[in-house]
Amino acid sequence: MMRVFLLLLAAVFTMAGASAAPAPAKGPGKDEKLRLAGDVLKIFEAKCADCHGAHLPKPKGKFGYVLDLKRMAENPEYIVRGEPGKSELFQLVKNNEMPGEDADVPPLTPDEKKLVEDWVRAGAPHELPAALPPQEGKPEAKVSFLRRVANWLGKFHPLSTHFPVGLLMTAVFAEAIAWWLKRDEWMLLVRFLTVLGALSSVPTAALGWLTNFPIVSGSELAMIYRFHQILGTAVSVWALVCATLVCIAECEEGSLARRRFRGALLLGAFLISVVGFLGGALNAGGLGHYKF
Ligand code: HEC
Repeated sequence: MMRVFLLLLAAVFTMAGASAAPAPAKGPGKDEKLRLAGDVLKIFEAKCADCHGAHLPKPKGKFGYVLDLKRMAENPEYIVRGEPGKSELFQLVKNNEMPGEDADVPPLTPDEKKLVEDWVRAGAPHELPAALPPQEGKPEAKVSFLRRVANWLGKFHPLSTHFPVGLLMTAVFAEAIAWWLKRDEWMLLVRFLTVLGALSSVPTAALGWLTNFPIVSGSELAMIYRFHQILGTAVSVWALVCATLVCIAECEEGSLARRRFRGALLLGAFLISVVGFLGGALNAGGLGHYKF
């Protein structure tokens, strides 16, 4: 009888003990979630907001709410709660596709990547701590000075395109007049415009290669970018071919050399238009930039 009683007693204590013990923790606790949300917000602020902040009239990639954790977490295209592997945003960050290796801001450090991963795994909480913890004075991986100079020079690419485009298009116009009037002066003018246009296209193309244009592999913008880059470079080479042709062509209307040059120039003008159209799309963040 006594043994049964003791056993019962033991059973009661065990159960009481079990229920008193804290429930096994399911993922990070509330404080940990607050901390994670605060930490990732700081990372996004430092490394993404320049291009995806709500303050921008035209955020990059048509994504302008990187500091709105709630809205981001609710968009399954960016974040699948609890699953970093399926969260596009984390994948982009992990593979240094965002901010892009040659952006003005350095890519995320391994620690920062880990934080973003933990945050997604914790269900991408958006509630922030009352007071954001003070910024640690940790020195960041600096973007090299040369890289920044290159990025800055690249900004002049859109500006510089106006010279070769304007000159070569004017050459087409002048060539039409030359054909109409059959006058040497006009043919010489075409030669001048074509040579100058071709020469100015070289630095323009070079600046294009310096531009820092972050792209997400496989996106529409990435495709436009590649086409623009390759075709743009080809057009520059083609302009040099035109310049050579016009220099060796006699100023004689109707000669074979002149006709050959004229054909090359027209083709060049067409290609320039295509490259310009694609460049405009890049500027606007996608096709449809001529929508009425
Ligand atoms: C220097 C500018 C720049 C910075 C900084 C930058 N991005 Fe981007 N981001 C872009 C551009 C441009 C695109 C569009 C690329 C494309 O479509 O190919 C883009 C696209 C994206 C997309 C995909 C949007 C969509 O709907 O397809 C996500 C997500 C993204 N960025 C997240 C981030 C995050 C997170 C950071 C910070 C860690 C960041 N970006 C930093 C320029 C930037």
